[in-house]
Amino acid sequence: MLVAILPGDGIGPEVTAQAKRVLDALAIPGMTYEEAPVGGAAYKAQGHPLPPATLDLARRADAILFGAVGDPDCDSLERALRPEQAILGLRKELTLFSNLRPAKMFAELADASTLRKEVAEQIDLLIVRELNGDVYFGEKGMRKTAEGLREGYDIMSYNEAEVRRIAHSAFRAAQARRGKLCSVDKANVLETSQLWRDVVIEVAADYPDVELSHMYVDNAAMQLVRNPGQFDVIVTGNLFGDILSDQASMCVGSIGMLASASLDANGKGLYEPIHGSAPDIAEQGKANPLATILSAAMMLRFSLGLPEVADRIEVAVAKALAGGARSADLGGTMSTSAMGDAVLAAL
Ligand code: IPM
Ligand code: MG
Repeated sequence: MLVAILPGDGIGPEVTAQAKRVLDALAIPGMTYEEAPVGGAAYKAQGHPLPPATLDLARRADAILFGAVGDPDCDSLERALRPEQAILGLRKELTLFSNLRPAKMFAELADASTLRKEVAEQIDLLIVRELNGDVYFGEKGMRKTAEGLREGYDIMSYNEAEVRRIAHSAFRAAQARRGKLCSVDKANVLETSQLWRDVVIEVAADYPDVELSHMYVDNAAMQLVRNPGQFDVIVTGNLFGDILSDQASMCVGSIGMLASASLDANGKGLYEPIHGSAPDIAEQGKANPLATILSAAMMLRFSLGLPEVADRIEVAVAKALAGGARSADLGGTMSTSAMGDAVLAAL
């Protein structure tokens, strides 16, 4: 089995290095790793954020472990050359349309949440975010209005096939959990959302065992901090899912804790922490590697058929936290590598 490691920018290389240490310590038979540059790092080295050799490795690999992309040095490049295009390109090229972003409170971290403990403790939810469509991939550009004003535009759209396939992913995820699915949209204003809602209701006919509800995205943002315990699985579009998953991450203590899987229809996946490249703390050994280590666990579970090994990693992370391992984002002072040490010791 081949795992592609794409460390990327900012704290990406630091956090993927710790996940790789954990994978190495597990010495999984038959597992090989190949690394390639991506994002701003790839642009600087090879002139493109997603060089052909990197894309080729991603295609050949059985699974991809991804760090983060985003580099302020590249913010004034034309959009097609910016680091973010690497992750968007991988999602699109490999048809990784189903993004699973679980948010569960680690009991040890109840005090790190910005929510009251008794509210935060209830959180055990999964955001299923669509990744291949929406305003992210619609026609976009800059133009002049009739009055000569500069105008930016990005077209939002979903077709029914795109909605149907993510709805099936979400209903299946709900079946494997507590059987509740909340579809989040803005159907009171957007046609895109009206179609979304109609199609989700059609797909629901195949899943009589799942309890489906609908919520407008503004209300969902509010409910996520008011009573997050009400959610089991949330399914939503690309943009709303981007926003709500960052919000959910902070509710469980830190964005430094949330792992994610981006899957195609066959279970091949890209695994990444949901946090970004955090250039402000890059190369200072301050980043929390746990989200990436937990992403590696998701990779073993969902793409490589090794759920027991995934369990071992997750248990080790919980043990490390119980033993007091805390990076700066969790209110502690431990370095990135010390956090990795703590997980290794707990393995
Ligand atoms: C995420 C990130 C990306 C996104 C960026 C880096 C393009 O915020 O994975 O949530 O917006 O999808
Ligand atoms: Mg995001």
